[in-house]
Parts: sequence; C-alpha cells; structure tokens
Amino acid sequence: MPASPLSVGVVFGGASGEHAVSIRSAATVVGALRRGDNADRYRLSCFYIDRQGRWWPPAVAEAVLSRGLPAEAADLPAPAGPPGFRGFPEGALNVEVWYPVLHGPNGEDGTIQGLFTLMGVPFVGSGVLGSAVGMDKQAMKAAFAAAGLPQVPYVCVEAAELADATVEALLDRLVQQLGFPCFVKPANMGSSVGISKATDRASLLAGLREAAALDPRLVVEQGVKARELECAVLGSRTLEASVLGEICFEADWYDYTTKYSEGLSHTVIPARVPDAVADRARTLAITACRAVAASGLARVDFFYDEASADLWINEINTLPGFTSQSMYPMLWAASGVPLETLVHRLLQGARESAGQTVPDAEAP
Ligand SMILES: Nc1ncnc2c1ncn2[C@@H]1O[C@H](COP(=O)(O)OP(=O)(O)O)[C@@H](O)[C@H]1O
Ligand SMILES: [Mg+2]
Repeated sequence: MPASPLSVGVVFGGASGEHAVSIRSAATVVGALRRGDNADRYRLSCFYIDRQGRWWPPAVAEAVLSRGLPAEAADLPAPAGPPGFRGFPEGALNVEVWYPVLHGPNGEDGTIQGLFTLMGVPFVGSGVLGSAVGMDKQAMKAAFAAAGLPQVPYVCVEAAELADATVEALLDRLVQQLGFPCFVKPANMGSSVGISKATDRASLLAGLREAAALDPRLVVEQGVKARELECAVLGSRTLEASVLGEICFEADWYDYTTKYSEGLSHTVIPARVPDAVADRARTLAITACRAVAASGLARVDFFYDEASADLWINEINTLPGFTSQSMYPMLWAASGVPLETLVHRLLQGARESAGQTVPDAEAP
C-alpha cells in the first residue's frame, strides 16, 4: 500500500451533447475509485464542467454526482461567469493525475488533453493527437484507410458544397459512388446525434442539411445491413483487447433514441460469433488504436456481415461510455478485469505514459 494516497482529479460533465451520460459514467468511475484497495491508493477530488464549459469545485461536483443529473443555472452556488474555461477552481492545482470522464466535443477531442499536457500532469486516456483524430470521423477514416483497415465505402463532404451552385453535382457524386441506403454523419458529434439514413435523393439532401447545421465537416457512408460488434482496448506501453460484445436492437439502426431508451437495446457478451471473427476483430481493434495514436483506453466498433463474413471497422471512441451499463467496463469484467482493477489500471497507465515509475504496474 502506498505511503500516501495519490491525488486524482476526476473531471466530468462538459460542454457536449453527452453531458448527462458523462455524469453517469463519472458516478461509476468515482464509485470504483472509492472502493476496496483503491480507497487507500487514491484521494479523489471531483470537478464538474457545466454545459457552458465553466469549471466548478468539488462541493458542486459531489452534489451533481449524488443527484445524477446535470446542474441547472439555479442550482449553482455563485452567479455564473462567462462561458468557457476561466481557470481552475480551488484544489485543482494539487491534482497529481487527471481522470477525464468526458464524452464528445470539448473533452474526448484533444482539447482538455492539451490543457493537461501543457500543465505537465499525467492523465487517463489518449493524448492530444489520438483524441483529436479519434473524434473527427473524416480524420479517423483517413488514418484507418492509411493503415489498411477495412471500412465501408465513404465520401467526405464539406458543408460549403451544399451551396446552390454545387449541391446537384454533390448529390450526383454521392448517388453514383455510394447509392442507397447511405448514412450521413457530422464528423464531430457522437451518440448518433445529427446522423440520418438516406433512402433517396430527397432524404439525402435533408440529411446533409441537418448534419451541416451541426458541423462543417461531414461524412457519407454506404449503408450496410450488419451486426454491430464492439471491442475494448486497454493499456499504455502494450495494448490488450477484450472479448467482443454485440449490441442488439429491433430498430432499423442504432439511433439516439434506441441508444438511450431503457429496453430498446441490449448487449450480448461475449458476442456469439466464430472465434476466428473475434480474433480478427481484436487484432483490428489494436491496429485501429495505433492508426490514430490512441492509448490508455478505447472502444472500437465494427459492422459484421454474417453471410459474407465481412468485418468493417466503424469507429473508435477514445473515452467510451463508462456507466454501469456501458459496454467498455462490461467487456473488461467479462475478460477478467473487474471495475475496481480497471480504473486502477487506467490510472497506472496514465502515469506510465507520462514516464513515471509505477511500482506494481505489472501486477495490478
Ligand atoms: N454505414 C453504415 N451502415 C449501417 N448502419 C450505420 C452505418 N453507419 C452508421 N450506422 C448506424 O448508425 C449508428 C451510429 O453511427 P456511428 O458512426 O457509430 O456514430 P456515433 O459516433 O454517433 O456513435 C451505428 O451504430 C449504426 O447503427
Ligand atoms: Mg457509434
């Protein structure tokens, strides 16, 4: 047992569409860091980032965690300052390792990783490059393509191409290269926000306009009818891949409502696929992490067509959902790494990546 516990800063919430999920993920992480051996190893300080990007100290963060709901302006103790980061609340400068539990823009995308890097304080998860490339679907796909990873055919689109003078040519190009159905996605969102399935020229144009309202960078992909498999990756110097999980749902595709409504989807762990498919997915998951420079933790998602045995990589999430019902911790639990060990190993990995000597790194 260490002589004095390590000071860990858990930061959650965030100016992102996934703010509410982040609170549930943080509750799971904080619970696991306060249990068993972790209670002696770590002294936690929690920090809450509200939807406007303002940072709040532990007293507010703990209240948000215990309520499990985002704070509204009326709940916050001081008059709200201007939006955005305006300096750390009390206690943050004593943090020895940061644990960001933030999903989506302004947290999973390299921004907060840049802040911690500039401060010279270790943090859990990918660095600036891996986070930024993993977040932006255009950059992610280019990195995957360069690494030779199998992906469904796709076209990158700029919102400016929707201008009257070019929109018809754009639609012609998409229809010719991808056909229907196809999926339109903003490059930088998550949780299926802004994604739509297009089945004809009119729904393609509507989908492009909807996505362009959220992001100037878009991706359009050929639609496939396939099972959805996920693999969790963990490690700093060496990366390990978990057993696979499958997301099952009745809906046509895994949209926002299906993702977040109780009972509309369920997970099967381990996924019922041939061993050879699971092994291939695990190898591809690690290649995908290397391709975008992701480390620490990541969840890599696949499409699997049973009939043809095709396996396509869909995306990487560098700060995947971490609620008690989330795939990432469940995949590790099924792979022999219980939650308490998982969060400990993530902190060990953060320190190792920063070049710190971690005494029990090999035997967590
Ligand atoms: N090319 C595709 N073919 C079939 N379904 C797709 C395709 N792309 C996305 N989907 C569906 O949309 C969901 C969300 O897409 P995804 O790229 O994973 O976005 P997000 O980053 O928001 O999770 C997928 O889980 C899947 O159900
Ligand atoms: Mg997804």
